Amino acid sequence: MRHLLSISDLSKAEAVSILDTATELARVSDGAVKKLPTLRGRTIVNLFAEDSTRTRISFEAAAKRLSADVINFSAKGSSVSKGESLKDTALTLQAMGADAVVIRHGASGAPQRLADSEWMLASVINAGDGTHEHPSQALLDAFTIRKHCAKGAPDLAGIRVAIVGDVLHSRVARSNILLLNLLGASVSLVAPPTLLPVGIEKWPVDISYDFDAVIPSVDVVMMLRVQQERMSNLFFPNAREYSRYFGLNSDRLKLMSPHSIVMHPGPMNRGLEIAAEVADSARSVIVEQVSNGVSVRMAILYVLLAGQSLEAGEK
Ligand code: NCD
Repeated sequence: MRHLLSISDLSKAEAVSILDTATELARVSDGAVKKLPTLRGRTIVNLFAEDSTRTRISFEAAAKRLSADVINFSAKGSSVSKGESLKDTALTLQAMGADAVVIRHGASGAPQRLADSEWMLASVINAGDGTHEHPSQALLDAFTIRKHCAKGAPDLAGIRVAIVGDVLHSRVARSNILLLNLLGASVSLVAPPTLLPVGIEKWPVDISYDFDAVIPSVDVVMMLRVQQERMSNLFFPNAREYSRYFGLNSDRLKLMSPHSIVMHPGPMNRGLEIAAEVADSARSVIVEQVSNGVSVRMAILYVLLAGQSLEAGEK
């Protein structure tokens, strides 16, 4: 594996192996000395052309814990915001000796274009492209679900997940649907019809408009952020209506089965898709998702770069 652009780049065995590697690396992160020498001398460039808090610092922490050098390249202060082409960006990154480029971009497909560029020798990791995919988020979500719900199984066979809210604009939902299916979980989408993409009936998911009916039967309720910045039209009448039908509040929390968990990729709109008391409740694993994100991103870098160096060594 050279790049991580989409969950469809992964076989089931590769996905499980990333989760297993992350489990091992999480043990290191729990110890007193958090750093491993594995990627010493390697350079990882974080190229973020769209806002991010969690994903950017999580990749940075992951790279540093593996002793790589990290260069942060944010679009606002770079020529990417002046419209520099991806080709020129690729040439620049290559000239800096990047071994991996972690890219977040507002345009769906930008990471693929960078990876396809003949000037790009580094591994490209998609950290979220437009409304397309966010594979590292899906992997950290699967890691979190496996930890809480899989009872020691390597995959997610038989686990039931509801993904709720703004599916239309969500790259997190797209990557999660692919990965959850690959790992044997079943997925129900709960959303207003206006926030479901065209062609959804061909996806391997059940669809419901009735949140209360779905809640009792699932192991995981994964809430999605209402992505107002990507909305040019009116997709629902008002915030109150949205919360009433599709928000996770404390009454709905009571309908959840005893061992089920609440997830959200962040950033949350507290009071819109999720009530503050639910986000902070004992069932919520939202903060844990963030710390798991570091271990999973360490595993991704490890598999892409340490794997690559072994192969290079064999030549
Ligand atoms: C998500 C994203 O940027 O796609 N956030 C994240 O990476 N933690 C989800 C979102 O913005 O709603």
